[in-house]
Amino acid sequence: MSILTQRSTRYSTLSISLHWLMLLLIAAVYACIELKGNFPKGSDTRELLKQWHFMLGLSVFALVWLRLLARLIRPAPPITPALPNWQAVPAKLMHLALYALMIGLPLAGWLVLSAAGKPIPFFGLELPALIGKNPDLAGNLKEWHELGGVIGYWLIGLHAVAAVVHHHILRDDTLTRMLPGK
Ligand code: HEM
Repeated sequence: MSILTQRSTRYSTLSISLHWLMLLLIAAVYACIELKGNFPKGSDTRELLKQWHFMLGLSVFALVWLRLLARLIRPAPPITPALPNWQAVPAKLMHLALYALMIGLPLAGWLVLSAAGKPIPFFGLELPALIGKNPDLAGNLKEWHELGGVIGYWLIGLHAVAAVVHHHILRDDTLTRMLPGK
């Protein structure tokens, strides 16, 4: 089989790099907001943790577009042995939900700060507000953002459990397709 017609058994290097980089980023986004509760209101550390939550969350938003582009250029490699439909369909839905989360959650966070009339920091820059100041809406959006955060824990957890089950119990190549290597 020539190099042109050969189907890869792994995701592209770009997709693999973005997958693991974004996992680290998302873990840090969660860690910042969870750890902030340990510091008194108004303290520098608490404020700093919030700023990092915003900036790393916005980085997820920036990178997810590149990730989608990489996925579009090089679609997902097939799983061997192929999954039956009852597994393939929920897997696809789960991936769609994860992409929706990586776009929707940061966007909701950006809207919260916009509606609250607060600055939107991004590594020394200040991003524009997406909507005008509206404290009531800010409160509502914050609740949606928090609910999205909880849903995110479940989706990411299920996604990780599924990867381990595929690797150790079903013994297919679902996970190795996303691992770096030769
Ligand atoms: C992957 C991206 C993100 C995830 C997973 C995430 C998740 C979360 C979670 C779990 C909370 C805590 C909810 C609670 O206390 O119950 C939170 C709070 C918050 N997030 Fe995010 N977030 C993300 C991105 C962003 C971005 C990009 C911004 C703004 C630019 C943002 C703004 C906020 C705000 C304003 C709060 C409330 C903080 C406070 O208590 O004062 N988030 N987020």
